[in-house]
Amino acid sequence: MADMEGTIESKQFHTDVPAPKTSTNIKGAGGYDWGMHSRLAQIFDPADGRTVMLAFDHGYFQGPTSGLERVDLNVVPLAPHADALMCTRGMVRTIIPPNVRKPIVVRASGGPSILKDLSNERIAMDMADAARINATAVAVQVFIGSDDFETQSVHNMTQLVDAGIEYGIPTMGVTAVGRDLVRDARYLGLACRIIGELGAQMVKTYYCDEDFANVTAASPIPVIVAGGKKVPVLDALEMAHRSINEGAAGVDMGRNIFQRQHPEAMIQAVRAVVHNDASPADAQTMYRDLSGGLED
Ligand code: R5P
Repeated sequence: MADMEGTIESKQFHTDVPAPKTSTNIKGAGGYDWGMHSRLAQIFDPADGRTVMLAFDHGYFQGPTSGLERVDLNVVPLAPHADALMCTRGMVRTIIPPNVRKPIVVRASGGPSILKDLSNERIAMDMADAARINATAVAVQVFIGSDDFETQSVHNMTQLVDAGIEYGIPTMGVTAVGRDLVRDARYLGLACRIIGELGAQMVKTYYCDEDFANVTAASPIPVIVAGGKKVPVLDALEMAHRSINEGAAGVDMGRNIFQRQHPEAMIQAVRAVVHNDASPADAQTMYRDLSGGLED
C-alpha cells in the first residue's frame, strides 16, 4: 500500500497559472483526437508548424529511379536531416533501420506502373499494416479531373481516411495531375480543397507561379509542396522559399535532393529555407560550402 503521508498537505493546484493551450501549430488539427494530432505533431515541427519531408517512394510505380538504385546507400544517411520520410512499406521493412526515429509517411496507393495509365490506382495497403510498421501517416494519390478514375481515386482516399480515423493515423492526399491538366492555382486549389473537404489531414501538391497563396488560403489542412523534377539548386530553393512564404507548411522533396551530386548538403540547404527562413541565395551558398563547391 502506498504511503499516504504528504498527499493531504502538499497539494499544488497553481490556481493563478492558466492551463496550457494546444500549441502544435498545425492547420485544422484543433478538433482531432489525441493520437491523430500527436502523429501530425511528429511530422510538423511544433516551433514553426513546418516540415521537410524526404520523398523516396518513386519506385512504387517507376522502379529503380535514378538516385534511388540503392536507398540504403543514398537515402538512409539523409534521414537525420529530414523531419519525416515518405516511402513504401517495402522499403520500410527491408531497408529502413527500425531505430531511425523519424516519422514515416507510407505510400498506401498503387497499381499501375509507368507502362500503364497511372491514374488507375487502388488502395495498396491496409491501415492495420500501417499501424504494424509504426507509420505516422499514409499517402494516397488523388486524380482530380481524370476522365476514368477521378471517383475511384477519391474513393481510395476516403476509405483510407475512414480507416485512419479508426487508428488515429493521418492521411495525406496527393494531388496527382494528369498529363492533359494544367498545374495552375485554379486546378490545384480545386484539388486541394476537395482533398481537405473529404477528410484528409494533409495535402501534397505542386507549387504554381501565380496565385499559389490562394491555394494554401483555401485549404483547411496543411499544404505540403512536392519538389518535382530536378532543376538547378537555386531554382529548387527558390521554389521552396516561395512556397513557404505563400502559406505552405513545408516541402516533400525527392529528386531535387537525392539526385544531387551532394544530397546531404542539399537537404540541409532546404531545411535552412523551410525552418530558418534563409534566403534562396544564402541557402545556395550553404549548399556550395557543405558540398565542397558543387553547383549542380
Ligand atoms: C511521386 O510520385 C511521389 O509521390 C513523390 O513522393 C513526389 O512526387 C515527390 O517527389 P519529387 O520531389 O521527386 O517530385
